Amino acid sequence: MTRVPDTSMYEQLFSHAARRVANQTSILVDLPNEKPDTISLAFGDADPSIFPSHQITSSVSGLLSENVDAVMNYAPADARLHALVTKRLEARGVAVDPAQLMITYGSSQVLGLLPQIFVEPGDTIIVEGPTFLGAVEYFAASGARIETIPVGPDGMDIDSLASCLADLKSRNIRPKFIYTIPTFQNPTGTLMPASARARLVALAAEYGVLVVEDDAYGDLHFKPHTAPSMLTLPGNEWVLHIGTFSKILAPGVRMAWAYGPPAVMKRLRAFKSESDCGTFVTRLVSHMAQDGWLERHIQMLRLHYATKSAAMVQAIAEHFPADVRTNVPEGGFFVYGYLPHDLPAVALNDVAIRHGASFLPGTTGYANGQGTHEMRIAFSFQTVPNCVKGIASIGSAMREMRHKSA
Ligand SMILES: Cc1ncc(COP(=O)(O)O)c(C=O)c1O
Repeated sequence: MTRVPDTSMYEQLFSHAARRVANQTSILVDLPNEKPDTISLAFGDADPSIFPSHQITSSVSGLLSENVDAVMNYAPADARLHALVTKRLEARGVAVDPAQLMITYGSSQVLGLLPQIFVEPGDTIIVEGPTFLGAVEYFAASGARIETIPVGPDGMDIDSLASCLADLKSRNIRPKFIYTIPTFQNPTGTLMPASARARLVALAAEYGVLVVEDDAYGDLHFKPHTAPSMLTLPGNEWVLHIGTFSKILAPGVRMAWAYGPPAVMKRLRAFKSESDCGTFVTRLVSHMAQDGWLERHIQMLRLHYATKSAAMVQAIAEHFPADVRTNVPEGGFFVYGYLPHDLPAVALNDVAIRHGASFLPGTTGYANGQGTHEMRIAFSFQTVPNCVKGIASIGSAMREMRHKSA
């Protein structure tokens, strides 16, 4: 007879953190099942039509013919990859100390490690709202108290941040870190201007709080901009910068980097397993990037995603009611929308799926349930015709909801 496993027998073995995660409701809970032919504009996957398959194939065979033993054995991340990231940071004006740089298994790994090295349950951290849903999940799982600072047209609202920090201080609370995506923010697409960045880093230094600058989309601008990395600003000893190859190469390589204060890097290294970014893939990425190939590839990506973004913005102008306000992104993967009171996002998404398309309801980007009338629409994954068709379907869902409630 097969015994039915009794899951409760493990309960007392689990750590407090593991028990907390089991009781946590995923913020994706609002998402309905999509039909197989739904045009999903919900997730920011990379566009598979431009994965560099030729460069991958030739780099793999080049690597294997060079030295199979070296790429297949235990070894640290390829030194050439460190050199590549260093060069790219230096090009942005960062005075790089190699000891402060670490290669990681995706930037998600760093987001997952941060609570481990900073947060006891009940500690306070600060995020912008809305923000990257993966970060919200990692941070909430740590039992942190999450303060949410609103995002305006220029990214995180720095006046609100200043008030929040002052209020916390008056209650003797020193937050552990401030998490921000200043460049083509996920999900709003906003770009924080230089002056706001300078104020943010100065506030972090004044209050003694780490700033985590997540630069996942920094390379994907549709036109030049002058906003600096926070690593170049006065107070940068309080900045941990994270970047990723996911958006400029392919998410499947799971390759990213972190650069920050020596004390923080020391802890990140201690908690990170070295063998998680395999020798083979670190060499593959540096091999692919050589002779300027990566920079040329990024130039192509900028044009490609700019074209998709423009097509989506135009389709929105044609198909959405005029009182749906949307951001016009200058980079990144997303258009963000603010819905009028009669179009709540979760209900709208249900109707939209019947019409053949889906988006990500705004609540998924908040740790506190806000965002009921907000929507993230990704142009990154679908083809241009599908982006346009998907927007037309969402527009007709909006009209149907209005017609029914009239
Ligand atoms: C802002 C932001 N940070 C981090 C990540 C995760 O990137 P990675 O693939 O490097 O783990 C994403 C992915 O969507 C993101 O949007």
